Amino acid sequence: MLDLTGKNALVTGIANSRSIAWGIAQQLHKAGANIGVTYLPDEKGKMQKKVSDLVEPLNPSLFLPCNVQDDEQVKSTFTTIAEKWEKIDILIHCLAFAKKEDLTGGFSETSRSGFHTALEVSTYSLAQLAAAAKPLMKEGGSILTLTYLGGARAVPNYNVMGVAKAGLEASVRYLAAELGTANIRVNAISAGPIRTLASSAVGGILDMIHHVEEVAPLRRTVTQLEVGNAAAFLCSDLASGITGQVIYVDAGYEIMGM
Ligand SMILES: NC(=O)c1ccc[n+]([C@@H]2O[C@H](COP(=O)([O-])OP(=O)(O)OC[C@H]3O[C@@H](n4cnc5c(N)ncnc54)[C@H](O)[C@@H]3O)[C@@H](O)[C@H]2O)c1
Repeated sequence: MLDLTGKNALVTGIANSRSIAWGIAQQLHKAGANIGVTYLPDEKGKMQKKVSDLVEPLNPSLFLPCNVQDDEQVKSTFTTIAEKWEKIDILIHCLAFAKKEDLTGGFSETSRSGFHTALEVSTYSLAQLAAAAKPLMKEGGSILTLTYLGGARAVPNYNVMGVAKAGLEASVRYLAAELGTANIRVNAISAGPIRTLASSAVGGILDMIHHVEEVAPLRRTVTQLEVGNAAAFLCSDLASGITGQVIYVDAGYEIMGM
């Protein structure tokens, strides 16, 4: 029943084979979606080569640089998408960034520039990309972002990223309320802790994972592919009645009181 044939899915946030976005891209492709990929470019072109090699088996019909801190690049990325694809059906927002020094110690020590960077890249970018994708979601669509429990509860060391995720989850609700009339659904998956490039910057990430393995109802954390499965569902017509929600894919950890 889960069929994404004929759907164009733009996936942001693939950095390597551990990326949650890679798990999502694989499962969207498996469900029949036509995949487009954006990556964060670097001066030496290392990321371009690495991500391009990784995603090759999915035969992406688009492969474009897109640094969300660069308005001109975002504009040119979506101009190219408009030229090459007639429409976007699915947008996966799977990116975040905070300075490493702001992901350890006390939240009150967060610098103004660290706060700005974390919120700009991790929170504002959802509204930014939704605005760019909206005119191309001509037949309606589904926008999905990735959040973490630290946006709803105080998690040690998550600090400014928790504030960014709280803003991201509120953005999901505001975007869902605005874009619903265009039949565009907006949701978030709150994933359990997974070892990735981004999560390795969070102080004590391995302790967080071990704690989840001890306490979560399923006594483990989740995999990138499990998040990908939930993403495929949320972006499919099977989830046509779901918008503005934060869905926990965390082996049940969020329900536990102790
Ligand atoms: N790993 C976890 O435990 C976990 C849990 C819940 C939610 N998340 C969220 O999942 C998402 C993906 O993270 P991940 O854990 O897969 O790590 P990751 O490092 O693989 O992905 C983060 C991505 O953000 C991209 N990025 C950073 N700055 C950017 C910019 N300026 N423009 C464009 N892209 C930029 C990076 O290139 C990278 O591809 C993030 O939103 C993260 O907060 C992660």
